[in-house]
Amino acid sequence: MVDHSRAAEGAVAPRAAATGAPALVRPARAADLEAVVAIERASFADPWAPRAFSDALADEGLLFLVAEREQGVAGYVIAWFVAGDGEIANIAVAPPARGHGIGAALLDAALRAGRDCGTRSVFLECRESNAVARALYASRRFVEVGRRRGYYRLPTEDAIVLKRSEGRG
Ligand SMILES: CC(C)(COP(=O)(O)OP(=O)(O)OC[C@H]1O[C@@H](n2cnc3c(N)ncnc32)[C@H](O)[C@@H]1OP(=O)(O)O)[C@@H](O)C(=O)NCCC(=O)NCCS
Repeated sequence: MVDHSRAAEGAVAPRAAATGAPALVRPARAADLEAVVAIERASFADPWAPRAFSDALADEGLLFLVAEREQGVAGYVIAWFVAGDGEIANIAVAPPARGHGIGAALLDAALRAGRDCGTRSVFLECRESNAVARALYASRRFVEVGRRRGYYRLPTEDAIVLKRSEGRG
């Protein structure tokens, strides 16, 4: 089993640091779960249940990172990498902390952990209308490879399937 958490520990969000709000990306701990669940609820109309996050923490096959600032946990990313493929399963930043590079730092840390264990392709799904997330993914060379009709609830919406291929640039 690859320890994704250790591989990604210690990354810093550069733009956040530049704006005076440094964020350390580190493995999630049980004490972070309350903040993570609050960010999830503030970010999604159809949030994951708290149990999904405690299960993710207990699952050694999942990468679960948080971005921590002086004020506390500001965001998280959950991903898995198996046999050359990976998926970004969840990523969110607390609304007041958005736009300071934290989402990009979390995504970069997850992608780095994936590369470290030999991942060649990383997938994710995104609401078609989520322009901010799609801009973030496009900046990290994710390209559209498919669509899942009516995948999301509240409101019902198609998911765009995005893929990033490693090993180029
Ligand atoms: C998507 C999300 C994680 C981005 O986190 P963030 O910390 O605000 O993003 P960053 O500050 O790191 O910005 C990264 C990139 O996102 C894009 N972005 C960020 N804010 C944006 C905005 N207001 N408008 C358009 N694009 C924006 C840009 O491409 C930006 O890179 P750039 O500044 O170099 O152009 C955050 O908006 C969020 O939590 N949204 C709600 C949950 C969600 O939608 N998760 C993704 C589900 S698929």
